[in-house]
Amino acid sequence: MKFFIDTANLEEIRKAQDLGILDGVTTNPSLMAKEGISGDEAVLQHYKDICDVVADKVSAEVIATDFEGMITEGERLAAIDPKIVVKIPMTENGVKAVKYLSDKGIRTNCTLIFSATQALIAAKAGATYVSPFIGRLDDIATEGMGLIRDIVTIFNNYPAIETEVLAASVRGNMHLLDCAKAGAHVATCPYKVIASLTKHPLTDRGLEQFLADHAKAQELAAV
Ligand code: E4P
Repeated sequence: MKFFIDTANLEEIRKAQDLGILDGVTTNPSLMAKEGISGDEAVLQHYKDICDVVADKVSAEVIATDFEGMITEGERLAAIDPKIVVKIPMTENGVKAVKYLSDKGIRTNCTLIFSATQALIAAKAGATYVSPFIGRLDDIATEGMGLIRDIVTIFNNYPAIETEVLAASVRGNMHLLDCAKAGAHVATCPYKVIASLTKHPLTDRGLEQFLADHAKAQELAAV
C-alpha cells in the first residue's frame, strides 16, 4: 500500500519525506486555507514548493465547478510540475473534466467519493485515483470502511480498471490498518497518523530494558 500525507503543511511533508516512506501528497482547499495560502500566485508557488520536497504524486485541487473552469484550472495546475495530479470533485462536470484531462494524459484524483457507484463512474472516465472519504462517513454513522471494501471488490472484478483506490479522510491507526486489509492501493493520512505507526508501548519498554542491561554489563566489565 502506498502512503500519502494529507496536508499542505511543508514542515509535515518534509518530516514524512525524511522518514523515507512517503509516496505522495494530497491537499484540498481547506488544507491550503489552514496554511494561510490564498491568491493564484501564492497557491501555484506553494504547490511548486511541495513538488520540490517529494518524488511524485502531489494532488492539487481545482476550485472551479463548471466544466470549462475545471479544465482550464486543471491544465494550469498540471503545468506547474509533472508531479502534479489534478484533483477534481465528483460532480457531473467533474466526471467530464476527469475524462477530458485523462484523455490528454493528465493524471487525476476524483475526490469527495461517498458511494461505490461514484467510484465506478470516475474510473470509467479514466481517473488515476478515486478518493473515498472514510472518516466523514463514520462521522454520520455509516461505516466508511465498507465503502473501501466495496470499491476494491468492484475494481478487482474488472482487471481492465487501472484506477487506484486512494482511501481518504483517514483519522487513525485502525483506519490505516483496515485499508491495508481491504487492499486499498493508497491511504492518505495526516502526519500524526503516519507518526503513530512507529509507536508501541512494548517497544519503548523493551528498548529501555535492552539499554539498561547493556549499561549494567558495561559497568561490570569496567570493574
Ligand atoms: C482527501 O484527499 C482529503 O484531503 C482528506 O482526506 C479529507 O479528510 P478530512 O475528512 O479529515 O478532512
